[in-house]
Amino acid sequence: MPIDSSRLVFGPEFRTGVDIIDAQHQVLFDIINRIDYLLLVNVADMQVINQAIEDLVNYALYHFSIEERRVSLWVDRAQLGDHVLEHNEFRRRTNDFRSATNGRKLSAEVLELQTYLKHWLVDHILHKDVPLFRQIEQQSPVAPRQHVINGKTEVVSTGEKD
Ligand SMILES: [Fe+2]
Repeated sequence: MPIDSSRLVFGPEFRTGVDIIDAQHQVLFDIINRIDYLLLVNVADMQVINQAIEDLVNYALYHFSIEERRVSLWVDRAQLGDHVLEHNEFRRRTNDFRSATNGRKLSAEVLELQTYLKHWLVDHILHKDVPLFRQIEQQSPVAPRQHVINGKTEVVSTGEKD
């Protein structure tokens, strides 16, 4: 089965410096490695593989909501919007997959999706999450972000990053 079976290793280049985000990214790597293993050993039962894909998608969607909430405390709306758009690309792709296959996933489609998700995740963490969280970390002095709403200044972040 022609797949990219290189195991993902969560090295220092993937660390954002925010423990909860790094821990969740590691979980996503673990699930992707599990799917690669299932594909590599050519598990005939597509239900097992489909369930693993569902686990990956569900966990990724949960993770995005946590990450977006965290990022929203520290960056302006434009930067948050750019990041959400990136996540939406993943959401759209996985949603298309779910509806197109109508519950019946074929192995070729699963392989294509797994390859896409793997590359998307590695690229996104390295080129979007890590620079973003490092930028947040370097914001100096560490100060809560404030919004002016109806003429009143409102603190929307406490200054705590973790
Ligand atoms: Fe992200």
